[in-house]
Amino acid sequence: MENFCLTKDKVLRINSDTYLLIFEERLPFEPGQFVMIETPQLVRKPFMLGRWNEALAISVQMKGVGTRYIVQEARKLKAHGPLGKAFVPPEGRGVVVASPTCVTMANYLQKRCNCEVVIGSKTQVRFELPFRTVVGDHEFLRLLPTLQYDWCLVAGSDSMKRVVWETFKNKKEHLFFTLEEYMGCGVGACKSCSFLASSGLKYVCKDGPIFRGDELCWE
Ligand code: FES
Repeated sequence: MENFCLTKDKVLRINSDTYLLIFEERLPFEPGQFVMIETPQLVRKPFMLGRWNEALAISVQMKGVGTRYIVQEARKLKAHGPLGKAFVPPEGRGVVVASPTCVTMANYLQKRCNCEVVIGSKTQVRFELPFRTVVGDHEFLRLLPTLQYDWCLVAGSDSMKRVVWETFKNKKEHLFFTLEEYMGCGVGACKSCSFLASSGLKYVCKDGPIFRGDELCWE
């Protein structure tokens, strides 16, 4: 875990508000780990690490001044990581259900463990992704019950997680969820990411950010 600089090589727009950032640097990391990126407001934001065409990459939903700085203004970014626990998938056929904000992580996981990837986007996707992609809630809700898997990782918005949870909660020990959006400092200092799991108190930044469905008390 260290401080380093990330230099943007390419920025690709995925949909109306989400961008794929490809970096020049090389960084060893495991699927499921994340990086904290600094903004001028001195707030660090977490992003799941991934790859695109072998290069280090993240995807970013631009929704405020901090993410606008990361996507549009800075060429070099101050970062800290890799952080968090690696995700080790169980045996069997896996599927990653992700929103465009986690597309690079999903891509890396597919390369590492040959799982299927399904992308659910709220708005039209601007370029062809190398995965099955559905646009809009209606299409997503039609697709979900057709998925066949031994394990399923959900990496997306809160509403996406809730829908998948409701659909498959009878086999929640086969579900996994990324919770990186609940983090503050990312390094175990602020305690803002704590939650009560079925096995006791957990911290998203230290014990996660990926948790098995039966750890989460979402009923
Ligand atoms: S994000 Fe600060 S303690 Fe986990």
